[in-house]
Amino acid sequence: MTQDELKQAVADAALAYIQPKLENDSVIGIGTGSTANCFIDSLAGIKGQIYATVASSEASADRLRNHGIPVYDLNSVDQVDFYIDGADESNAALQLIKGGGAALTREKIVTAVAREFICIADESKLVHTLGAFPLPIEVIPMARGHVARELVKLGGDPVYREGVITDNGNIILDMYNFSIEQPLAMEQKINGITGVVTNGLFAIKPADVLLLGTSEGVKTLLAT
Ligand code: A5P
Repeated sequence: MTQDELKQAVADAALAYIQPKLENDSVIGIGTGSTANCFIDSLAGIKGQIYATVASSEASADRLRNHGIPVYDLNSVDQVDFYIDGADESNAALQLIKGGGAALTREKIVTAVAREFICIADESKLVHTLGAFPLPIEVIPMARGHVARELVKLGGDPVYREGVITDNGNIILDMYNFSIEQPLAMEQKINGITGVVTNGLFAIKPADVLLLGTSEGVKTLLAT
């Protein structure tokens, strides 16, 4: 199977996973990226059963609306029942690196609210140690230099992502050459740097389940 076929397979698996659990008032959180886009397209097939969604980016909200799927502001819903999103990397504990699409802050906010976080990814994303994928960090623009100097002290090589402004009006620094042995402690440490909005480690609240697309089919992984 191609990588695109694996993404569509996990998107379909995510729909099959949540569909039996959907209630009349279920709110579905929607992630960002190419795998999340596959999920949005799958969701369109049952849009008559969808009460509400909330989106982690303007791009996903547009895609949902184009399908005629209702999108709400997070502040106007009382709960988010499921959050479905891709990842740039996952370890066996389902701690993730996210933010390759620069939507990490809104993704983390929706994750924080969601009762169940279902991560969907192809098998190339499963790693032993996080950090081969450069860790995205959203930063208030005026703090860029300060944050970059503090990140160098942590041992990585922060690189300004040219030409990218997040949906929140901020910039992204990508941390290269940074093997992350203790994701939970590192997530907290980077978030403690003044000027950081958030970083792309999802370890304080990892995924609850990972639907992993492999050449042998979709595997369901729970945190170990
Ligand atoms: C968006 O900011 C990211 O967190 C994505 O979820 C992540 O980059 C995965 O994207 P793909 O599904 O396109 O690989």
